[in-house]
Amino acid sequence: MLIGKAVRYALIASGALVSFSVAAAPADIITTRQQGLKQMGKAFKAISDNLKATPDVGLIRTNAAVIAMQAPKVGGWFPKGSGKEVGVKTGALPTIWQQRAEFDADSKKLADAAKAFSAAATKGNVDEIKASAGALGQTCKGCHQTFRERES
Ligand code: HEC
Repeated sequence: MLIGKAVRYALIASGALVSFSVAAAPADIITTRQQGLKQMGKAFKAISDNLKATPDVGLIRTNAAVIAMQAPKVGGWFPKGSGKEVGVKTGALPTIWQQRAEFDADSKKLADAAKAFSAAATKGNVDEIKASAGALGQTCKGCHQTFRERES
């Protein structure tokens, strides 16, 4: 009986996930991803600013955790049909869907760099933190150059 119940719950849970992804309106997808990216941008800026002053490992760890939580989600924030055709303001260029494999590779680079950065923050060696923050920043830049519209 217990197993039957567990299976039923699993079915309900997966059904809910499927109907959510179908029901989410493209404009909501864009809003959600922009909120996530903003959060990541804010955390990264807090880290960069702090590293220019006197490094506060506690502050860096807190913000590293925010980035580590958001970074693996980035690839999934850009489903087909969530570009300019939606008609809301977005910096997502059509190249994302034209060069999907490259975009996914850039998303993976970000997730890996965020993980490495988080490990360095946990360890607490400032030189390592600085080096891995630099590497992390390169992954943001790399993707933005190809896939994000430049702000004028
Ligand atoms: C795989 C590609 C990719 C990576 C990696 C990436 N970004 Fe972005 N980012 C984008 C795209 C595309 C947009 C435009 C999204 C939109 O407007 O819908 C964006 C937008 C943003 C925005 C603006 C959000 C808003 O609407 O105000 C910020 C801030 C940002 N990214 C920060 C970062 C930071 C910080 C990193 C690295 C830690 C990063 N991004 C890594 C693709 C990426």
